[in-house]
Amino acid sequence: MKTLDELLEAGVRGKRVLVRSDLNVPLDGDGAITDDGRVRASVPTIQALTGAGARVVVCAHLGRPKGAPEPRYSLAPVATRLGELLGAGVPLAQDTVGASARAVVDGLQDGQVAILENLRFNAGETSKDDAERGAFADELAALADVFVSDGFGVVHRKQASVYDVAKRLPHYAGGLVRAEVEVLKRLTQEPERPYAVVLGGAKVSDKLGVIANLLQTADRLLIGGGMVFTFLKAQGHEVGKSLLEADQVETVRGYLAEAQERGVEIVLPTDIVAADAFSADAAHDVVAADGIPADRMGLDIGPQSGKAFAARLADARTVFWNGPMGAFEMAPFAEGTRVVAEALVAATGAGALTVVGGGDSAAAVRQLGFADAQFGHISTGGGASLEYLEGKQLPGLTVLDDDTTTGRER
Ligand code: 3PG
Ligand code: MG
Repeated sequence: MKTLDELLEAGVRGKRVLVRSDLNVPLDGDGAITDDGRVRASVPTIQALTGAGARVVVCAHLGRPKGAPEPRYSLAPVATRLGELLGAGVPLAQDTVGASARAVVDGLQDGQVAILENLRFNAGETSKDDAERGAFADELAALADVFVSDGFGVVHRKQASVYDVAKRLPHYAGGLVRAEVEVLKRLTQEPERPYAVVLGGAKVSDKLGVIANLLQTADRLLIGGGMVFTFLKAQGHEVGKSLLEADQVETVRGYLAEAQERGVEIVLPTDIVAADAFSADAAHDVVAADGIPADRMGLDIGPQSGKAFAARLADARTVFWNGPMGAFEMAPFAEGTRVVAEALVAATGAGALTVVGGGDSAAAVRQLGFADAQFGHISTGGGASLEYLEGKQLPGLTVLDDDTTTGRER
């Protein structure tokens, strides 16, 4: 895979460089960015290019519009924030590959940056049809001389701006993609042991693949979040009104057995914060994990579990964490997530490599008041980092490995 440094060495002055960034940030009801981590993470690559005199055309998606423009998914707030961080206004094209995009790109001077409107306003971006994606990628490629792939959070998507455009332009891995891949390599290739993984979040079905893989590589698996109730059920406990994926109970039971065979320690909560409704002012108590009342739902791991989780992280040399431990957006159910974040911070201080994976987990730790620098690495990709750890081939990375296809392909 060719790198940004190689591109800079070759010289980019006056060249139009299309940069695919992941600027998919959370917005509040008024359209204000609530966590700008992905925008900040995208700045260094863009700045390296402008510093070398490139004409930088940033492209990105926001949310999941269905192939047509929708004002609430405009990249306008992102363009504003990017401009603030770069210290120079970033013009936003009114479309992605149309007349406005062409005019904005034509107007760029050496060292300037513009951004195209949301890629997913075009059906071709996410189409499953190769020809439809390819046609859109042709239009994107026509706006630039070179492609830099820097949106790590989308490299698991086989989409026009991630995959097909790299088949049409000379392509390079941006600094963020490189940095993310370097860290994930350290987790997969001989991680320092003990290697502990904390998994949370709502759905166990999203994580089955990665769990299967982690049973081969990790020493300890700590499970919390909504997905834990499927584990508790698999152990024969009743879980009341808690989230439960009944169709996954058998699979999870199989994982518990496999973990035991392999000597992988699975740490499940022994107490749960159980509430009578999914709301910040719901009545709630700490109950035993094997005694969740029928009319209650578990919304966080309990204090005893938090202590036990922290203890299993204290001596770890490598830690990967994906997914909150509870409904952390509501203060009464944020404690488990906070305790795990604190345990990662302590492990980092003790010299462990700690990685927080994912947009949601990253937003969670920032919302709880932690700083990025307190962790070894905060990944900008949730789905992407999980699929990497699952051992899958990520289309947006494999396409960069292919140095031969720099011409047009139909
Ligand atoms: C993300 O937020 O996970 C990435 O930006 C990818 O977005 P997607 O899940 O909508 O493809
Ligand atoms: Mg996602």
